[in-house]
Amino acid sequence: MTSTTAPLLAVDDLRVHFQLPGTGWFGSGKQTVKAVDGLSIQIERGQTLGLVGESGCGKSTTGRAILRLAPITGGTVRLNSRDLTTLSAAELRPIRRQMQIVFQDPFASLNPRHTVEQIVTEPIWVHNLRPERERVARVRELLTLVGLPGSAMGRFPHEFSGGQRQRIGIARALAAEPDFIVLDEPVSALDVSIQSQILRLLLDLQVQFGLTYLFIAHDLAVVGQMSDQVAVMYLGRIVETATREALYQAPQHPYTQALLSAVPYPDPEIEAKRRRVILTGEVPSPVNPPSGCHFHTRCPIAADRCRVEAPSLRTIGPGHQASCHFAGGPPPELQGAKPGTSLRASP
Ligand SMILES: Nc1ncnc2c1ncn2[C@@H]1O[C@H](COP(=O)(O)OP(=O)(O)O)[C@@H](O)[C@H]1O
Ligand code: SF4
Ligand SMILES: [Mg+2]
Repeated sequence: MTSTTAPLLAVDDLRVHFQLPGTGWFGSGKQTVKAVDGLSIQIERGQTLGLVGESGCGKSTTGRAILRLAPITGGTVRLNSRDLTTLSAAELRPIRRQMQIVFQDPFASLNPRHTVEQIVTEPIWVHNLRPERERVARVRELLTLVGLPGSAMGRFPHEFSGGQRQRIGIARALAAEPDFIVLDEPVSALDVSIQSQILRLLLDLQVQFGLTYLFIAHDLAVVGQMSDQVAVMYLGRIVETATREALYQAPQHPYTQALLSAVPYPDPEIEAKRRRVILTGEVPSPVNPPSGCHFHTRCPIAADRCRVEAPSLRTIGPGHQASCHFAGGPPPELQGAKPGTSLRASP
């Protein structure tokens, strides 16, 4: 069934380019880091989009730009149909309450000199959400929601474990009563046993408050537990997006296939049929991305065409898009293309 209402979040052709200072005379030799370069995503209300890719692909910059915490070079970001990219700081202030972020490292993102009460009260105070006399009770309520005792109020972040600190970060985000939360690798720094508790908590809170999530991770196993839709990012662009089921059962882009090769599939029949793609090398620099298809330097089926012609993001099934010349069809050798011989061609 297709929804008739606009998605809660619609990002179109987002670009975030950072200028690096030049090393030559008068700033000559300036370089541009294309951290995000033409990214489009949509998230329906109450749903989770998982954004996945290796470190350095531009995931955090995407999340930060959506919240207007990173400078936007081009494109639009619509929350509830309203374009945020053109709003002034004053116009943005009331909208900031609706969009919150939870960071990977709660220790770095929580002020070490503030008590838990001060940390969680801050958004309530900034956005003037509750009458003064109700604020302490509200903080206690938020701590209960995230599974922390009321006695946590007077304590400092360093007195808690990593998982508990992440609960404090989640309570702070919830304090603003948001519609949308960017979860930027919220469990990547935690032990596996703690990870599942935090993921469970995030899912429960989503149902309870009708929250919409952008869930960022480098690990497709974690993304699979959380997401309705998944978008795979490589060098500033989406290379494949699909429902969770379609992406895990029939990944079309070689990069997605490589990321998934490291993740066991729960159904043994599907697991046996899956193609293994081993990913070698590192993400190339976004200052000087490879020509043609950005992935060609690491792609096991790269053909001559891939080095000169950038593939566009094409629809290959219901809600399923991929940007590979050979996605959704037979392998390149059967399409008359000459497959590459080297797995590690130079950029
Ligand atoms: N403020 C900045 N100035 C220059 N380059 C940046 C800045 N922020 C991020 N980058 C670069 O942009 C690219 C994407 O970074 P990031 O969004 O943090 O990726 P990810 O979250 O996927 O690891 C990286 O090459 C990073 O070095
Ligand atoms: S377009 Fe070519 S290089 Fe890019 S992912 Fe497809 S096969 Fe690989
Ligand atoms: Mg990141």
